[in-house]
Amino acid sequence: MGSSCTGSRLRRRTRGQQMIATRHGRSPCGRSEPPGEAGSRIEEGHRFTRMNAVVVRRLGGEDWRTWRDLRLAALADAPGIFHGDLAEERAYDEARWRTWTEDGVKVAAFDAGVPVGVAAGRTPAERTGAVELFGMWVRPEARGGRIAERLALEVVAWAREAGRSQVELWVICGNDSAERVYRRLGFERTGAYEVHPHDPGLRKYVMTRGTLDSPVRPLPR
Ligand SMILES: CC(C)(COP(=O)(O)OP(=O)(O)OC[C@H]1O[C@@H](n2cnc3c(N)ncnc32)[C@H](O)[C@@H]1OP(=O)(O)O)[C@@H](O)C(=O)NCCC(=O)NCCS
Repeated sequence: MGSSCTGSRLRRRTRGQQMIATRHGRSPCGRSEPPGEAGSRIEEGHRFTRMNAVVVRRLGGEDWRTWRDLRLAALADAPGIFHGDLAEERAYDEARWRTWTEDGVKVAAFDAGVPVGVAAGRTPAERTGAVELFGMWVRPEARGGRIAERLALEVVAWAREAGRSQVELWVICGNDSAERVYRRLGFERTGAYEVHPHDPGLRKYVMTRGTLDSPVRPLPR
């Protein structure tokens, strides 16, 4: 199953300088880079001390700016990871962001009130019983604090409350740090692969877990 990833190739990006490695490469995605214009508004003057208690909560329609700013910062930081297009989404108006915020679930992490991470869940019409977790991103300055685990578990909780039995997500081949996060939470590869819709040089694979599975398990080293 893992060998299916080896067709992907090391690629360098100009915007955000995101680097995605193959299974044989050395760099996972998520390299620390200055955020784009949308993100700089969020982080200005903020220091990530790790001493602040990080709060994770679901967003409502009134939080559309938070979803917008985190989403645009994510696309600027890691353009090869997400399906969205930064220029296209930057052009969305308020009504569109509000509607998107309220569609499915958007979960954000706040460090002393400053948004530092985000994840989203949606119920694909074609997949009854499943929720797709997407858009997972933690600000480079806030990484390493297990924030992603809390974001993912909140999406799983939302899926369970919505009566869904499975949560699925896509990982780009070579994004090993993301896979480790998900494996710690009990997600496993299904063996399904697809070519990235915007980049035929990249492949992605599905991971899934049940919404009633135990929350966290230790990662085998
Ligand atoms: C993947 C991602 C969400 C993980 O978020 P996180 O809250 O930092 O997750 P963790 O704290 O569990 O750390 C994950 C790994 O990154 C390592 N890490 C620590 N500090 C880091 C830093 N400053 N920068 C990058 N990685 C760091 C951790 O040690 C950990 O490694 P391990 O799994 O071997 O223990 C985050 O790196 C990110 O936003 N990446 C770019 C977007 C992305 O890949 N999204 C996932 C799409 S499927």
